[in-house]
Amino acid sequence: FAAKEAEKRGWHLYIVGGAVRDLLLSEEQEFLLLQDIDLVVDGFHRSADVGAGVELASTLQENFPNARLSIHGEFQTAALLWHKDPQLGSLWVDIATSRTEFYPYPAANPEVEASSIRQDLYRRDFTINALAVRLTPPRKGELLDFFGGMLDLRSRQIRVLHANSFIEDPTRIYRAVRFAVRLGFEIDPQTETYINYAIESGIYERLRIENHPAPALTTRLKAELKYILESYYWKPALKLLADLDALKCLHSQLILDDILWWQIRYVSRCLRYLDPENQLEHWLLRLEVLITQLDPTERSKIAVNLQLPKESLERLKKLSQIELEIKQNLLKCTQLSEIVNVLRPYRLPNLILVSVRSSCEIRRTIWEYLTKWSKIQAPLTGNDLKVMGYKPGPQYKTILDRLLNATLDGEISSRDDAEVFLK
Ligand code: CTP
Repeated sequence: FAAKEAEKRGWHLYIVGGAVRDLLLSEEQEFLLLQDIDLVVDGFHRSADVGAGVELASTLQENFPNARLSIHGEFQTAALLWHKDPQLGSLWVDIATSRTEFYPYPAANPEVEASSIRQDLYRRDFTINALAVRLTPPRKGELLDFFGGMLDLRSRQIRVLHANSFIEDPTRIYRAVRFAVRLGFEIDPQTETYINYAIESGIYERLRIENHPAPALTTRLKAELKYILESYYWKPALKLLADLDALKCLHSQLILDDILWWQIRYVSRCLRYLDPENQLEHWLLRLEVLITQLDPTERSKIAVNLQLPKESLERLKKLSQIELEIKQNLLKCTQLSEIVNVLRPYRLPNLILVSVRSSCEIRRTIWEYLTKWSKIQAPLTGNDLKVMGYKPGPQYKTILDRLLNATLDGEISSRDDAEVFLK
């Protein structure tokens, strides 16, 4: 439908980027579900057609009213979102007007000007993402491969289109890693040299989040970090980022040493076990563990600049203080009930973060608390107290707490014990 509408107006329409890459790779897979389709409109002659992408998206929306339309005027792009069934997820269709994004200074937001499809593809990150298929006649169905993308798909290489790619957009280093690990590709040696050069050139000294939060860069970097840290392949991806020295983009002192590598895996294992339904954001906690390697003032700076959520900022800010509190208070405990009362005020993410940074003994105590002791209950409930004739009120809490402590310390284990205990 979109192709017909474009053709009516004398425009060309192309499917570009990740969808083409994944379609071409799909021979290797049994099943391909495209959830994100990028279309580009091109071939117009009037400057008024510069908003062609938006016009096409609006026409589509009129004909498919269950799609939600959003327009990003600044970049002449529009997106349509279809909510499909819960199993298949949703479908995004982005429609852009063919354009060249030129970068007036490194890592600035791309500015837009109308231009041909070749230039549109040339501004993209990797050859495998710079392929297009024409959807309008003439030569409908033709694959446009100006930069050797097919060859790289076959030889499984991540290759940039030009030497300045990473200088223009440092987040592409994270993307190179993401695609390499996800697709099982290699980063082409020349491309790796460009990554090394970009990192060594000091561009990150100026762009690094710790000093100079460039909002557009920060948002993109955070999106890539999230993408990587929430994926099933986060471990090899993080290793590769560290091997490329790319964690420097986050902070100059961030090094994935053996201890940090162990910590981040330990936290992930804890989360898998303690939060199997993924109610917490596991990627965020992995990121927090990375950040906790830095000293407290740097942690907060990075967290603020990355615009992490409020609870994350709070956790990182209070971590040292909570660590100290827990350590000192646990030292004073002689009974199990005391240990439980020391740990109970803290939430699961805080306890996991503290445990991974503590001694073996504290870690074991927190683990026992989280997996066993926190689940122990008193043999009587508030209702039982009511039946037993206790007048409802704030004293219920005191009584139930006393009962729980006695249970934890092995003084009572049944309702009968509890009733005797209360007399
Ligand atoms: N792109 C780019 N540089 C970036 C981000 C994106 O050149 N820093 C280009 C790539 O050509 C990419 C397209 O924009 O194919 C769309 O970006 P995105 O949706 O993030 O990537 P996909 O290739 O669709 O990847 P995925 O399948 O992971 O969504």
